[in-house]
Amino acid sequence: MSKSLRKQILKQGDLPTHIAIIMDGNGRWAKARSLPRVAGHREGINSVREIVRICGEIGISYLTLYTFSSENWNRPKREVSAIMKLLLSTIKKEIKNLHKNNVRLSTIGNLEDLPSDSRQGMLDGIEMTKNNSGLNLNLALSYGSRQELLRAVRRIADKIQSGKMTQDQISEETISRELYTASVPDPDLLIRTGGEARISNFLLWQSAYTEFYMTDAFWPDFREKELLNSILDYQSRQRRFGQTGEQVSA
Ligand code: IPE
Ligand code: IPE
Ligand code: MG
Repeated sequence: MSKSLRKQILKQGDLPTHIAIIMDGNGRWAKARSLPRVAGHREGINSVREIVRICGEIGISYLTLYTFSSENWNRPKREVSAIMKLLLSTIKKEIKNLHKNNVRLSTIGNLEDLPSDSRQGMLDGIEMTKNNSGLNLNLALSYGSRQELLRAVRRIADKIQSGKMTQDQISEETISRELYTASVPDPDLLIRTGGEARISNFLLWQSAYTEFYMTDAFWPDFREKELLNSILDYQSRQRRFGQTGEQVSA
């Protein structure tokens, strides 16, 4: 099944260069099994491992995973601390394998907010994989798009105040360059699992022309078949960027 799906996708050609995913539904996955929420986060890691592997295998260049939002700090302390521990243990356990598979790890968001051991674990992983040339795996950690935009505005204001830049030099490119995603192309495909149809403060600026794909599947159930189906769906769309269908297909 997945093999023929893969063939179909590769035959179609235009793969998304950058896939971004809002990995939602871990808690509900656990609840449906009368398990604690953290069991859902734990199972979600198996989905992450599989999705990262498939993206590398089929030749996706960038994968951004919404791992922990700025607003997720407002969850019960116990859950936050369990997630932070899982983050550290997972990165420690997986980093060698990621490195072996030529994955380059990066993060977006305010890493400073993380407990120091989790933050250090991430920094070590980034350092180890910095020269890899395969999949760019980008984890959004303590990430919020409004906070990111606010930070960009402040950075631009600083440059103007210190005379490094003038007001009329501000352009869309200058703004993009001050975001955490400065070196990353905008996402082509944004997937949200878990059945909600909202953006939850994720990549607001960057997703202006991103194709959205929503699925009811909870994140722990989102595996190869679901990913390939989302790509197939993406490949059936016509991206018009404001133009008419006729213009784009001419
Ligand atoms: C997503 O799953 C994981 C994080 C936000 C860390 P949730 O924990 O939000 O799961 P639901 O939405 O409550 O089911
Ligand atoms: C979005 O999921 C954040 C992550 C997946 C990390 P949430 O579960 O936090 O989103 P809301 O609160 O339902 O919008
Ligand atoms: Mg949720």
